[in-house]
Amino acid sequence: MHDRELSEKITTVEQHILERQRAHPTASGNFSWLLSGILLATRIISANVRRAGFMDILGATGGENVQGELVQKLDILANETIKSCLGYRGNVGIMVSEEDDEPRIIKEPDEQAKYIVLFDPLDGSSNIDVNVSIGTIFSILQRRDDLEPGADMVMDHILQPGFKQIAAGYVVYGSSTVMAYTTGDGVHMFTLDPSIGAYRLAQENVQMPEQGKTYSINEAYRANFPEGIQKYLEWIKTDEAGGYGLRYIGSLVADFHRTLLKGGVFLYPPTTKSPAGKLRLLYEANPLAMIAEQAGGVATDGAQRILEKVPTSLHERTPLIIGSKNDVKRVASFWKR
Ligand code: AHG
Ligand code: MN
Ligand code: MN
Repeated sequence: MHDRELSEKITTVEQHILERQRAHPTASGNFSWLLSGILLATRIISANVRRAGFMDILGATGGENVQGELVQKLDILANETIKSCLGYRGNVGIMVSEEDDEPRIIKEPDEQAKYIVLFDPLDGSSNIDVNVSIGTIFSILQRRDDLEPGADMVMDHILQPGFKQIAAGYVVYGSSTVMAYTTGDGVHMFTLDPSIGAYRLAQENVQMPEQGKTYSINEAYRANFPEGIQKYLEWIKTDEAGGYGLRYIGSLVADFHRTLLKGGVFLYPPTTKSPAGKLRLLYEANPLAMIAEQAGGVATDGAQRILEKVPTSLHERTPLIIGSKNDVKRVASFWKR
């Protein structure tokens, strides 16, 4: 390697957390050990996504998950990979996965096993077989220390509102594998460098533009959206709106990643088929809402801030309007839930 390449500073995620934890003692070394488990899992998933065509892991398993959706083989691989990488970290008490009906209790949360990790192991499953970007989304809570005797020592630790998250992040398996995370101290982005098998710091303190030029929604459901959303969809196409484009990948994490970097708004409103919306609160909306807000954006369900919603069930769905401040405000001027 040339001297320049050798001297080029490589900041890995672990280094980044250690550097920042000096400034923010709350993020303990314990936490970076937990995050490194998640990142190991995403490196394994990324490797499998990239050679899915050569292995018998494309296609559906023929089974259905708790969501009533066709399970793709890569969904299972991703789910099992994350659980095995996190299961033996020693500091995780409970894991909640989109793919599992019930929480996986490693041990009842205590001073050691104080983290609860919630995740969508593979987001955008319908895109796996057609080589379109997919991703992994994760949310990290800490055990509650205010539970009264007799409380449900599993669900009460899990069903916390999103503002209680101590960290959130996602990975997009796209033209490159990109990871974004926040511990409440800004959003930081890394790119996986396959030549060294590590995520390298690409951008610190990512800021979402106050306004974008893109709206992102599945217009096929237009007739099934609330009237206010239909009015917004008419307005956004007028000259007054000023030349918005429509982009919809069908992988939330990829649509969100574009919105974070370029601005604009992603909408999955209620439909007649899914009156509570399709996206899941605990491991899709909450983690992305934390990232959006940390980057200066907003996330609502049409009535309230996503992060203030108190969950009542594990796989609870929510409408999601997320993106640039001005764009989400514009949607709200047409539709309030
Ligand atoms: P998942 O693959 O984890 O079930 O998530 C799929 C979600 C989300 O990624 C995407 O935004 C949405 O489904 C697309 O839904 P429609 O096909 O109804 O537009
Ligand atoms: Mn998903
Ligand atoms: Mn999924």
